[in-house]
Amino acid sequence: MIKLKTRQDLIKEYIEFFKSKHHKHIPSSSLIPENDPTVLFTTAGMHPLVPYLTGQKHPLGKLLVSVQKCIRTQDIEEVGDTTHHTFFEMLGNWSLGDYFKEDAIKFSFKFLTEILNIPRERLAVSCFAGDSDAPKDTESEKIWLSLGIPKERIAFLPKKNNWWGPAGNTGPCGPDTEMFYWKSKTKPPRRFDAEDENWVEIWNDVFMQYNKDKSGKYFSLSQQNVDTGMGVERTLAVLNGLEDNYQTSIFQPIIKEIELLSNKKYGKNEEETRAMRIIADHIRAATFILGDERGIKPSNLGQGYVLRRLIRRAIRYARILSIPSPFASKIVKTILPIFPDYQELHRNHKFITQQLDEEEMRFNQTLEKGLKKFEEISEDLKTIIPGKEAFLLFQSYGFPIEMTQELAEEKGLKVDLEEYNQEFQKHQDLSRTASSGMFKSGLADNSEATRMLHTATHLLNEALRRILSKEVKQKGSNITQERLRFDFNFPRKLTSDEIKSIEDYVNEKIKSALAITRSEIPLKDALSSGAQAEFGAKYPELVSVYTIEDPSDKKGWFSREICTGPHVSNTSELGNFKIIKEEASAAGIRRIKAVVE
Ligand code: SER
Repeated sequence: MIKLKTRQDLIKEYIEFFKSKHHKHIPSSSLIPENDPTVLFTTAGMHPLVPYLTGQKHPLGKLLVSVQKCIRTQDIEEVGDTTHHTFFEMLGNWSLGDYFKEDAIKFSFKFLTEILNIPRERLAVSCFAGDSDAPKDTESEKIWLSLGIPKERIAFLPKKNNWWGPAGNTGPCGPDTEMFYWKSKTKPPRRFDAEDENWVEIWNDVFMQYNKDKSGKYFSLSQQNVDTGMGVERTLAVLNGLEDNYQTSIFQPIIKEIELLSNKKYGKNEEETRAMRIIADHIRAATFILGDERGIKPSNLGQGYVLRRLIRRAIRYARILSIPSPFASKIVKTILPIFPDYQELHRNHKFITQQLDEEEMRFNQTLEKGLKKFEEISEDLKTIIPGKEAFLLFQSYGFPIEMTQELAEEKGLKVDLEEYNQEFQKHQDLSRTASSGMFKSGLADNSEATRMLHTATHLLNEALRRILSKEVKQKGSNITQERLRFDFNFPRKLTSDEIKSIEDYVNEKIKSALAITRSEIPLKDALSSGAQAEFGAKYPELVSVYTIEDPSDKKGWFSREICTGPHVSNTSELGNFKIIKEEASAAGIRRIKAVVE
């Protein structure tokens, strides 16, 4: 029935299908989001498209198709079963204010039934049931009925199931209609029951017509968009009649190598099989993070911390399987040929293996001793591992807190996380105030470091305009716990005198102790009051505007930007502003990296 077998087939057929429907193929963006300091990784194909979903024009037009590298960090501890992954690829097609529900659903149906050859008896769908934010989606139901999906195969489900987004705290989102495939060899039941695990969700068409703001309210977007997502790993597994994603050709070469290294058989013993999946998933994700053009290395902060967690968890499970070290770089050799299309992995091959080897060596020095220490600590305990002890394991033995939690759970114990966080805060300097809590959710937005750098970004933006040229516009911004990065249009390299003047100017504004105020006003009022539109195009009807007040300025303020924040309340909270790098980012675009010390 189903002719697809490989990852390449599925991706090619998807892209070709949408190209034949006038969509332009866009390359996968980086795994590290360009313009969203609230999320560590790109979590969906729509993520790099946020500005275009909110009104900015995409250079390739309104119809797009892609396969996007994604990382989701919420479920790292779940990895080990047959379906969860940290890294995955997402196929997607978009209409940026062009077609809406009817064409989106018709395209999906045609691709599923005519290209993938799925018999319609094996399909079911769900639509949004409606609530106080948005009405019941009877329009999608009508379209599905017209295509021959019977009423009993259409379920109406609440927001928890049939709503997608925003990707971060705020941004475009909307109701969705999801498509399910009956994976069992048995005859599919007449009525669709979303709870029955034999119905597997394979595709999601999101109707992005709302924008969620910081207060949690939904506003209509200026355009109606379509955002769809189909996970490559899962779809491939079900289409090939496999119950386990790790049995597909995407994972088999990796699993075979792990079998060889461990001298154990996949599928024979439950615990060992789980360990093999964890190693395969985590080293694959680590390979993609290290191979990304943004050059992330293992560290104790942000993306680097997630990377470290993944590698160290894989190392612990490799030890359980008695795999001799170093092993990670051997697995990388089997991963690269599976993804010939991601040039960056191949270009950065040396960096990937070198970083993995180093991290393995580092952790091997303390892992054994740390595990002994953990045994000592937990020996006489009945329920709770004190946070102080968990912090010791982190600081002296390099155990990510999540690893200690996992070890504790295996013994039926819990870690006192509150005390751990207190210890952590006590021992970290200001640039590291992000508590471990942020990594659970993958969000990094409210730390002191981020606030300071956000405000520094606004000061820099205005300083560039005043010192270099009125024509300077923000072309990109990215804030981590450690530094800000700011892209802007300017035709040439900055001189060292210019850099010095910019630093001095920003530092003067910091010393002047200027207040920062925030107001929530209609977009048009914001623009007419002289606000810069940060991040290109997050344009709900009501926007938040941050003003850096300055009584010595003839306007009464120094800078005003549309921005979701967060910011400090006074520039005096910032340390010394310093530009650490100035370089070309693209033709006519310069890039500055800066810190507040
Ligand atoms: N953004 C939606 C998802 O991740 C559809 O692409 O499922």
